[in-house]
Amino acid sequence: MKYFMLAILCWVTFLLAADKKSSATEQKIDSILATMTIEEKIGQMTQTTGQWNWHDPANYTSNSAASDGQRIAIREGRIGSFLNVYGSTITRELQTIAVTQSRTKIPLIFGFDVIHGFRTTFPIPLAEACSWDLDAIEQSARIAAREATAAGLHWTFAPMVDIARDPRWGRIMEGAGEDPFYGSLVAASRVKGFQGNDLSSNNTMASCIKHFAAYGGAEGGRDYNTVDISHRTLLETYLPPYKAGINAGAVTVMTSFNEINGIPSTGNKNLLTDILRNEWKFDGFVVSDWGAVGELRTHGFASSESQAAKKALLAGTDMDMESFIYEHQLSALVKSGEVNEQYLDQSVRRILRVKYLLGLFDDPFRYCDSVREKNELLNPNNVIAAREIAKKSIVLLKNEKNLLPLSKKIKSIAVVGPLADDKANPLGFWNALGDPTKVTTVLEGIRKTVSSSTKIIYAKGCEIDSLDTSGFKKAVETAKRSDVVIAVVGESAVMSGESKCRSSLNLPGVQEEFIKALLSTGKPVIVVLMNGRPLTIEYIDSHVPAILETWFLGMEAGNAIADVLFGDYNPSGKLVTTFPRTVGQIPIHYNHKNSGRPSNPDPKSYSVRYLDLPITPLYPFGYGLSYTQFTYGKPSLNSHSITTTDSIMVSVDVKNSGSRAGEEVVQLYIRDEFGSVTRPVKELKGFKKIFLNPDETKRVDFIVTPELLSMYDIDMHYGVESGTFKVYVGTNSSDVQEASFEVVE
Ligand code: NOJ
Repeated sequence: MKYFMLAILCWVTFLLAADKKSSATEQKIDSILATMTIEEKIGQMTQTTGQWNWHDPANYTSNSAASDGQRIAIREGRIGSFLNVYGSTITRELQTIAVTQSRTKIPLIFGFDVIHGFRTTFPIPLAEACSWDLDAIEQSARIAAREATAAGLHWTFAPMVDIARDPRWGRIMEGAGEDPFYGSLVAASRVKGFQGNDLSSNNTMASCIKHFAAYGGAEGGRDYNTVDISHRTLLETYLPPYKAGINAGAVTVMTSFNEINGIPSTGNKNLLTDILRNEWKFDGFVVSDWGAVGELRTHGFASSESQAAKKALLAGTDMDMESFIYEHQLSALVKSGEVNEQYLDQSVRRILRVKYLLGLFDDPFRYCDSVREKNELLNPNNVIAAREIAKKSIVLLKNEKNLLPLSKKIKSIAVVGPLADDKANPLGFWNALGDPTKVTTVLEGIRKTVSSSTKIIYAKGCEIDSLDTSGFKKAVETAKRSDVVIAVVGESAVMSGESKCRSSLNLPGVQEEFIKALLSTGKPVIVVLMNGRPLTIEYIDSHVPAILETWFLGMEAGNAIADVLFGDYNPSGKLVTTFPRTVGQIPIHYNHKNSGRPSNPDPKSYSVRYLDLPITPLYPFGYGLSYTQFTYGKPSLNSHSITTTDSIMVSVDVKNSGSRAGEEVVQLYIRDEFGSVTRPVKELKGFKKIFLNPDETKRVDFIVTPELLSMYDIDMHYGVESGTFKVYVGTNSSDVQEASFEVVE
């Protein structure tokens, strides 16, 4: 009892202290706000970019990152934040101007797109998500933050948590795929990685949940395009990852470029205030995407710059990235009484709160540390971690007759293809300060791995995206002289990413013909794919014996791929996005509705299908092979009837029935069979990544809580509806075994 009382006392003291601390911060903000002019307030709400022409990854810190005009603007309190300025020297110089020469002495906040590493480049986010290893994903963000903060940065415009169900959309590479449950877990892990436990520490940075909201729902997969979705789809599919990121502590949010049902996000009060602030209790700040305040006019949502400024501010956009509309318009709006100055105070308060949390008022220079910068960037431990997660991100799509892994003593290998010895593309889009000279190519990785007696012959064969076939001959001859062919093909890094959408998902240029030419030699061909999105590779799948999906794995790509090719690592990645057979199948996510006439393979059936295609995708969500085999038992339940407030336990035995140790991602899906509204045919609700030695069996338990069974009913109330549920457990979303239970009132 004594200890119990003591614990309560400590807890109350802690709560009071925490409250005092935060109210002390609020008081400081009050006193700063009281001294600020309207223009200085608007300055805090203005973010501008560094100069473009100074970017040089090899020598990235330079005074020319900011112009003389920008230095004057800092002095005059007209800029509160920079993006695209980094490096301990320049950030220190500009921060010195802000805190010594401006009247308010408010420190600047420096933001940058640190998406998958800063100087040490990790796999693109889509690839990392295929690891299903949340600790590794968190660690990758942690390392990126350690490096970026040493170079003066406080804030990353990541994670992008937009659900993407259209692989034509170039930004699919930047997220965690098509599933809201998994996407939410990844969002939280990335936020925790960037922000750590203490935002004021000199090696953690503010994260930014983007792009709010439903940016990935662009019609036709064309970036920036209109989004027209039901309120239910917004709530069930798109919003969960944003909310998960905010619950994990993210202190900033970025608006999306798109409109939803007629309202552009940057001017959407329902999203930015009703949902984000009032429902989710978010108390950080909202930054617009680049120029998006100005684009309210182009959308046809504001008739003038002045109206755009007013609509964005009143909706809840606190900081204007690069459209300068706040700078040019807000002052007159406030002075004329059209906008209440309290809106400025509210936004500035939110921005200053984050600057406080980052510790910038205590020490504005704690992040620009040239010694740490030298030690941290490309630190060997960071590079080792990049290789570890790169290995885990690889998905084995096909492996006929166990062609892989190859023996390191194999006599000869032809390493061919436009990406086989490419140093720039493995870095992927949004690679921050990734340095191509530090990239290990596939050819280099293979050379380092095989025995000294193995002969490696390299031929490029063709370019990524050209119609020139003149290089085929040499590559084919090379193939003929070898025991096996490794063909590294795919997209270039700039074929996915912002504004990088494609109407065809085929291998670009003549690469498929190139594979055909290689196959004509009769030699076994292993295809190693590098790409930022699912590709349509039906031909390759049906003709080539082994395929590795490696995405863009970052600077350690070649080493990680060689680890998998030669069996030093047994692949364990699983797809987080369905691979369609052709573009015409899109959208083809696994968690679709049943319809009244579910897909039926019989071509004569009147069902949800195309005349000219099978009903299945090429590879389903959750798919990925291993060099060993896993055998699943039947799932068992600890009860067959529960109430709406109970949890249920699902158990399954998984055995490694092959001859190698390996990891398996055991996946749990549910289906709510009948409801007041229809439900998806399957929804991921749990997974566990387990390691099994040959012959080893492990029992995997999942607890399905009421939260996991909840949905929005016909009246949009969130909760569990009684009825029958199916549970599916298996190695991917298609290959599952089932059990069922009922929920009673
Ligand atoms: C536009 C992109 O949409 C956004 O994701 C990015 O953070 C900003 N540009 C800043 O580079």
